[in-house]
Amino acid sequence: MAIERTFGIIKPNAVKACQVGQIISEIEGAGLALRGMRLARLTPEICKEFYQEHVAKPFYPSLESFMVEGPVVLLCLEAEHAIQLWRDLMGATDPAKAAPGTLRARFGADHTRNATHGSDSPASAQRELGFFFGAYDLV
Ligand code: CDP
Ligand code: MG
Repeated sequence: MAIERTFGIIKPNAVKACQVGQIISEIEGAGLALRGMRLARLTPEICKEFYQEHVAKPFYPSLESFMVEGPVVLLCLEAEHAIQLWRDLMGATDPAKAAPGTLRARFGADHTRNATHGSDSPASAQRELGFFFGAYDLV
């Protein structure tokens, strides 16, 4: 398997709670290399485009108001099987169902405020990395 890149977000609840350092430490400890990282403040427009597959779903309004409430950290992570590795490190979408020790179990508050985002496939990783990062932002 070739080296793969994936996209991640440290969501507003975890940034506000000063958990960025702990999450980055877990990322590095899991063997995911940082290839891009920056703070950003999402807007409703950016959020709608980023979460285009969820815009029509009932939970979307609460997701959007959460994602714009404070700064986020945008990440490009690299490893063999990076997409699955990062999903496994995050745990299930709902922190109540996430395995003990996963980031969402540790830092997630509820099904919406779940601390982290991760791409779910090679196609979404490519789209999401390109959405937030230019070539010169990545190393
Ligand atoms: O983030 P993940 O790929 O695990 O889940 P998703 O189904 O793609 O949903 C995207 C995001 O929407 C989640 O990470 C949650 O923040 C939020 N969500 C929610 O608020 N309520 C749900 N029932 C499902 C997802
Ligand atoms: Mg998803």
